[in-house]
Amino acid sequence: MEGSFVLPRKGSISDPLRIAVLISGGGSGLASIIAHEKSGSRFFRTVLVLADSNEAGGLKHGEMAGVESVGVPLPDIESKREQRLFHEKLIQTFLERRDVEFIALAGYMRILTPGFVAKWNGRLVNIHPSLLPKYPGAHAHRDALADGAMISGCTVHFVDEGVDTGRIIDQAEVPVLSGDRIEDLQERVKNAEHKLYPRVIDGLAMNPSSFLGRSGN
Ligand code: GAR
Repeated sequence: MEGSFVLPRKGSISDPLRIAVLISGGGSGLASIIAHEKSGSRFFRTVLVLADSNEAGGLKHGEMAGVESVGVPLPDIESKREQRLFHEKLIQTFLERRDVEFIALAGYMRILTPGFVAKWNGRLVNIHPSLLPKYPGAHAHRDALADGAMISGCTVHFVDEGVDTGRIIDQAEVPVLSGDRIEDLQERVKNAEHKLYPRVIDGLAMNPSSFLGRSGN
């Protein structure tokens, strides 16, 4: 059934869950996932890094770790709808080719279509730089500062058809300090993300069902 929620299989140290990390930018989150993976025995293994552009700086983190890392730019198609669908078809081809079992979005700035989300529902997670449900969307830090928030943070959540609306898996808080600029808050939140996300991915890979029921929404 389209839209059904299918958790990934349990990974193990000898047969880790095969994950793909999707990025758009500098990939500091990706780097933290790879560093975590290399620093001990883990229940997941990054087998593929995909970016939505050949210029994404983060591709180098995958390459340096010996992980297949590919830029998949938007195809040159006039209709935006067709372009999105064809782009995701390309992404899906790469995922299948590497037998990917689980996808972690790490600063991937494209909204995925309902069809793609349905296919990966339960095996597709994202990290967002706010304490969802507060400040969804592309300007979380700007919105938190404009709102006078005293606490912000990051949220790992399953991806659903909405924008940053999927079931919350875990969160980490950071303070907002007086005089903070967007960059200051962003850096503090990224530091928290880099601890939270790899730990959540590994935990999910080890025992997927333990992450259900922690939902904040
Ligand atoms: C991270 O802070 C991530 O939470 C955010 O983009 C940044 C990527 O940084 N994601 C979103 O805003 C998604 N809506 P990175 O490229 O250095 O990992």
